[in-house]
Amino acid sequence: MKGIFAAILASAVTGVLAAPSPVEKGPVTARAIAPRAACATAVTLSGNPFASRKIYANKFYSSEVISAASAIADPALAAAATKVAEVGTFMWIDTRDKINIVEDTIKDVPCDQIAALVIYDLPGRDCAAKASNGELPVGSLAQYKSEYIDPIVAIFKKYPKTAIALVIEPDSLPNLVTNANLQTCKDSASGYRDGVAYALKQLNLPNIAMYIDAGHGGWLGWNDNLKPGAKELATVYKAAGSPKQVRGVATNVAGWNAWDLSPGEFSKATDAQWNKAQNEKKFVELFSPELKSAGMPSQAIVDTGRNAVTGLRKEWGHWCNVNGAGFGVRPTSTTGSSLVDSFVWVKPGGESDGTSDTSATRYDSFCGHEDAFKPSPEAGAWNQAYFEMLLQNAKPAF
Ligand code: BGC
Repeated sequence: MKGIFAAILASAVTGVLAAPSPVEKGPVTARAIAPRAACATAVTLSGNPFASRKIYANKFYSSEVISAASAIADPALAAAATKVAEVGTFMWIDTRDKINIVEDTIKDVPCDQIAALVIYDLPGRDCAAKASNGELPVGSLAQYKSEYIDPIVAIFKKYPKTAIALVIEPDSLPNLVTNANLQTCKDSASGYRDGVAYALKQLNLPNIAMYIDAGHGGWLGWNDNLKPGAKELATVYKAAGSPKQVRGVATNVAGWNAWDLSPGEFSKATDAQWNKAQNEKKFVELFSPELKSAGMPSQAIVDTGRNAVTGLRKEWGHWCNVNGAGFGVRPTSTTGSSLVDSFVWVKPGGESDGTSDTSATRYDSFCGHEDAFKPSPEAGAWNQAYFEMLLQNAKPAF
């Protein structure tokens, strides 16, 4: 995922929208899974869905991690790795094939936990980058609806007693705010808007809480992007009929920004004067009121999965497999901010952001930058060396 995090840097002097610039995407055994006791009643989520629920450690990620741990020779590091398998993370449904895993991700969730998934298969996906171009071409909205969203909804409807949190379509609407000049994003625009609106409307079930992706501080956080960003999201939210189960936005998904580092990582950059959202806390504080005045719910969840180490990126917009990164704060609803429902791990740490193979169709030059880890496999594929690096650099340590 991730495109060119072009900011609309409207010059304070001219008030003209400048062309977007690339500112700123020993042997180990599996734990036994206890059979779930039947939950008594159907779930109706209102308020912070994470307040009394731990995020479910889905089997897909925990088995990736368990096999990664078994490949680590150093016993102490291998033991630390197994602990990562206990962290609740989001399961990405990034193809129609992955719908097979949806049921597995929700059927054993204990009553005091919440399943977490990412809806990510829009036609013309990742319009401003190449690394995560998806399976559905531009124009296949009908397939997105009937072959992707509808079957997922049908599975969710079988589990009304399970609480579910969803991140909706990372990068899509933010790309329409800042990369609208790219032909690929122009082509994708109506499919993104209609597709996200359809998803929000159909997924609006009582046991679900939805968070629409809102990029991060180095993307929609630019002073001149805050309002257009909120307007874009709110327009789609309203087109969906203002679904009750939309709670707000997800920020820093698969991102690297610190939560409250001050001064912020890029606060000394020459363009910093145009961005007050120098960390994610600031971004949420600035974006949330804009969402509210645009008529949209404004709570946030913030991805802290890989943001432990700062000062690694040459530019804020570098998004691919940042070298030197570490696992960040574990998911918790104790965020210290009334605007943030939970810190979450949306990007499963160890899965690649994009290939560094320059001959691959989905090779994106951001994955070849000096500050990107190499070699790296295709987006979503496991990178053992990267996982071990995240583990070694984790803060807090495992
Ligand atoms: C990839 C997806 C993958 C997700 C989580 C995205 O960048 O495009 O295929 O599921 O990351 O790793």
